[in-house]
Amino acid sequence: MRAKTVIIVACLLTAAFAGCLLVATAPRGEALMATTPTDLSKVPQADLEREIARNGIEAELDAINLYEQMASMTKNTTARKVLLDIAREEKTHVGEFQTLLVGMDAEQRTELENGRKEVDALAKN
Ligand SMILES: [Fe+2]
Repeated sequence: MRAKTVIIVACLLTAAFAGCLLVATAPRGEALMATTPTDLSKVPQADLEREIARNGIEAELDAINLYEQMASMTKNTTARKVLLDIAREEKTHVGEFQTLLVGMDAEQRTELENGRKEVDALAKN
């Protein structure tokens, strides 16, 4: 536990924060590479690109949550600003993956629009 604290503090002082944090949180003996929520090796080739985009969205949303949670926890003003700036960049990445996905998935495109309409209708009532 103490080693993780030292690594996280060191991470806050470096530009390689995310990778550093991955090292700090990886259980001993496990691979340090990030994994996808879905085992992409088992996804049929026809679905692979869409599944990559969905996994990308999921990973970016997870990163946003992590950075915003840490920003709310830190007492270091500069670290908070950096974390929130990185979180904002991750939101751009969500948009990039979403753009990829809706370009490949007509049903997703339609359902995103349906979801927007439902929220608009509920907001008016
Ligand atoms: Fe990202």
